Amino acid sequence: MSDLKTSLLSIQQEFKCQVLSVKTSTEADSLRVRFLGKKGELTAVLRAMGSLSAEERPVIGQLANDIRSEMEETLSSHLSGIVAGEKAAQLAAQTIDVTLPAKPVVMGGRHPMYKAIDEICDIFLGLGYVIAEGPEVEYDHYNFEKLRIPKGHPARDTQDTFYITDNILLRTQTSPVQIRVMENSKPPIKIICPGKVYRSDALDSTHSPIFHQIEGLVVDQGVTMGDLVGSLQLFAHKLFGVNTKMRLRPHHFPFTEPSCEVDLTCWSCGGKGCRVCKGEGWVEVLGAGMVHPEVLAGCGIDPEIYSGFAFGIGVERTAMGRFGIDDIRNLFENDVRFLRQFK
Ligand code: DAH
Repeated sequence: MSDLKTSLLSIQQEFKCQVLSVKTSTEADSLRVRFLGKKGELTAVLRAMGSLSAEERPVIGQLANDIRSEMEETLSSHLSGIVAGEKAAQLAAQTIDVTLPAKPVVMGGRHPMYKAIDEICDIFLGLGYVIAEGPEVEYDHYNFEKLRIPKGHPARDTQDTFYITDNILLRTQTSPVQIRVMENSKPPIKIICPGKVYRSDALDSTHSPIFHQIEGLVVDQGVTMGDLVGSLQLFAHKLFGVNTKMRLRPHHFPFTEPSCEVDLTCWSCGGKGCRVCKGEGWVEVLGAGMVHPEVLAGCGIDPEIYSGFAFGIGVERTAMGRFGIDDIRNLFENDVRFLRQFK
């Protein structure tokens, strides 16, 4: 009996001693395991009680239970102080200083090409045009046939593209939207169509296999070449300033007659000649003309009653002029160091 009692008392003593040095909840846990756990010191003593006599057992049992309760209470009151301290420390470490200046939100900017498209479209919207759209994956029929570019026509050589099937391709121009609009609506028609077009051109500083055009189409009674010139002149003045001069050069497009290419005085040198205009003083920005009567008739519009003009603006060239960009690849590589300059 005295052996077990001595053991119990020394465990109690040892525990009292150890508990004082416990500083964290982890240390408290290991102390609990050491003294009160299944394989702990107190349990070992209780296991040995089997060898005691019937009189001794309740006495030692009582003592063991008292010691166990005392240990549990000591440990839990000690632990509550530790846990409170740990919580407070954790909260203090997580304190947020709401008065610190906020991190700036990184804002993107509109891509310079879409800025140019927006500016150009705004000008025409202000003149009463509406925006029309058509598919980028287009029928040969709309992209070529109905624009009087039959199979074997030389104009197809300059507009080689990516074919999905023999009759379906990536559109080479926004002009097929003219046909789709004329087939589906009656004059007066006044639309612009901005969009992507494709050609199997190798990429260099002035060519890209994907580029953008803005198509324009006006069809009504009595529309003349004078209306075309006046509208384009207004567009040029609004986009590049009132001192911009315009020049029409005779050209050939199968779907317009007569046709022209339109140059503007160089936005960089004002017409004196510089690197941008390669010393010419002029920069070509669009193709245009009077809608061919056969194209009108092909869309169910009577060319005896109606006439129209059309134009196709090269967006990249215009954007490059507008923002002084000298390599078309900059517009497609999306290097933020480049794009950031247009924010
Ligand atoms: N679609 C022509 C091209 O890509 C540009 C063009 C020329 C459009 C004359 C027109 C136009 O609407 O009338 O080369």
